Amino acid sequence: MKIECQQLTKVYEATNGPLSSLEDVTFSVDDREFVGIVGPSGCGKTTLLKLIAGLLEPTSGRVIMSGAPAEGYPRSSMVFQDHGLFPWMTVLDNVAFGLQMYGIDRAERRDRARAFVDRVGLSQFADSYPGQLSVGMGQRVGIIRAFVTDPPLLLMDEPFGALDSQTRLVLQEELLRIWGEYQKVVIFVTHDIDEAIRLSDRILVMTGRPGRILEEVPIPLDRPRELTRRKPAAVGEIKWHIWGLLEEQVRKSLWVAD
Ligand SMILES: Nc1ncnc2c1ncn2[C@@H]1O[C@H](COP(=O)(O)OP(=O)(O)OP(=O)(O)O)[C@@H](O)[C@H]1O
Ligand SMILES: [Mg+2]
Repeated sequence: MKIECQQLTKVYEATNGPLSSLEDVTFSVDDREFVGIVGPSGCGKTTLLKLIAGLLEPTSGRVIMSGAPAEGYPRSSMVFQDHGLFPWMTVLDNVAFGLQMYGIDRAERRDRARAFVDRVGLSQFADSYPGQLSVGMGQRVGIIRAFVTDPPLLLMDEPFGALDSQTRLVLQEELLRIWGEYQKVVIFVTHDIDEAIRLSDRILVMTGRPGRILEEVPIPLDRPRELTRRKPAAVGEIKWHIWGLLEEQVRKSLWVAD
């Protein structure tokens, strides 16, 4: 599946007038590509993912998907920044929920959901409610909820943000494994430059107010990547380059004077 974002612009009607959150954002994502997105807070990363997911309509421009599955099959799932679980449903029902609209019967929905719940070490919490989980556990549920319907496109909005670094590494590896095995397209937003470099084929560096793409940075590291191994020297160079692009904007977005 290929995705083309053409001159996407999004203007929100905010309380104190129109707010231009994205302006003229154009890029494409190839079949099976893993694209990372980094940029300062408020630069429109979540907005961009929602436009691609079809959860928001662009003010102008368009998103074209080629090779997408037929009507009635899942195209994409989004893992939300705040995990977006239904508080009144158990962990198992939250994970199984997405399968409901595809005509899969209840027993199979629960079987499939349980396999994912087990895989991220939450077997004992299958019948717990989101409010009874730690933040990191809630994030794991949010992630497997997106995986369970097996869509060709995964849109991930800082999915590992609240995880401890060990769990994060395990889930990053798991994500790369699923991505490799099931040949998905992943668009992955993160505030962690190291994480973006570890995972991505290419990183889109965004700038804020209104959100635009500043630069596309290719990541020429071999696959499969062993995340627990020592980093190649090239990673340091790429990191400093991206940080150079972001530093000034991050200061501006925080109003930090230097
Ligand atoms: N529903 C909305 N109504 C009005 N303005 C909005 C809405 N959603 C987002 N915005 C504004 O659009 C801009 C981009 O928001 P968005 O959430 O896409 O940023 P982001 O890059 O994901 O930020 P963060 O890194 O903090 O998650 C912000 O200025 C935000 O205030
Ligand atoms: Mg966001």
